[in-house]
Amino acid sequence: MITILGAGKVGSAIAFLCGSSGLDDVTLVNRNEKRAIGEALDITNSIPKNSTISVTGTSDYSQIKNSDVIVITASVKAHTASRSDIMLEQSVMIRDIARKISELAPNSKVLVVTNPVDVMTYLMQTCNPGSNVIGIASSLDSARFRYLLAKELRVDQSQIIDAMVMGEHDDSMVPIFSRAKLGNVSVNDILNEKQKSQITLDVRNYWKLLRDYKGSSVFGIAKNTFDVIESIIQNQQLDICASVLLHGQYGVNDVCIGVPVTITKSQVLINEVSISNYEKEQLRKSAGIVKSNISQVSEFLK
Ligand SMILES: NC(=O)c1ccc[n+]([C@@H]2O[C@H](COP(=O)([O-])OP(=O)(O)OC[C@H]3O[C@@H](n4cnc5c(N)ncnc54)[C@H](OP(=O)(O)O)[C@@H]3O)[C@@H](O)[C@H]2O)c1
Repeated sequence: MITILGAGKVGSAIAFLCGSSGLDDVTLVNRNEKRAIGEALDITNSIPKNSTISVTGTSDYSQIKNSDVIVITASVKAHTASRSDIMLEQSVMIRDIARKISELAPNSKVLVVTNPVDVMTYLMQTCNPGSNVIGIASSLDSARFRYLLAKELRVDQSQIIDAMVMGEHDDSMVPIFSRAKLGNVSVNDILNEKQKSQITLDVRNYWKLLRDYKGSSVFGIAKNTFDVIESIIQNQQLDICASVLLHGQYGVNDVCIGVPVTITKSQVLINEVSISNYEKEQLRKSAGIVKSNISQVSEFLK
């Protein structure tokens, strides 16, 4: 069973992908129950004819028992200037949800989408230790990086290989130019420093572009989250960038940031790939920013 906490724009889009593909039973849990029921009734009509799954909506957290995967998209409100500006309010809600999960569904895999995602993932894993908590955002940032590289190089996105973004899902995220390739050629050999700086800025500010045109990411994050849910439910290995707790990898300890991982039904393996010294330094700076946000949240929740 797939449980999605928060039946807002992102939660219902993820539920739609799960329901319309007949992946597994879906339970949508929302603060305002009517919304969860309404989204479930709508998504129910997209279930394939030969599928036996169901999609239901509720505000009752006891329904999360027996979940294989719990996806957290609940959010107190939208952020404005930066993803961290509602961090303290979100942390109270996430701690409350974390306690419910550890009581009712301690063996579920937990995917955190709620922003600021790295801090919320850390908070969630302190209540649910082990490798069950994964923050989803860096795969979305990586997709944005791939798109921006393709646009700059005037090629199709499919020609860009190994575009990955690591670090915080916010202003300090680190696009890894040293690994990205156009075919067999490193993009470092094609792009000049000015182009790289502009792409770095554009990938960090992509959410602001969306904000100006439509509000916030819905389909991009929904599909990136769905891919992880699908890999867990169908027990298929998935290699992506995601926010996980680091224990010294990349010289970073006791913080959740986006790094390349391999996800299987039973575990999440951190892949320590080679990146340039400059990128390592940027990654450590990024981890430092998340760490200081975690300290603020810990102090606030005392
Ligand atoms: N990781 C990423 O890359 C990424 C990308 C896009 C968005 N996000 C984040 O995803 C989150 C959701 O975005 P959205 O656009 O879907 O927001 P949204 O449309 O405002 O939806 C949030 C939903 O959460 C519900 N909610 C609030 N507290 C709850 C609780 N304790 N339990 C259950 N439900 C609760 C709200 O209920 P009501 O109906 O009662 O208001 C609302 O339906 C945000 O934090 C956003 O920043 C992350």
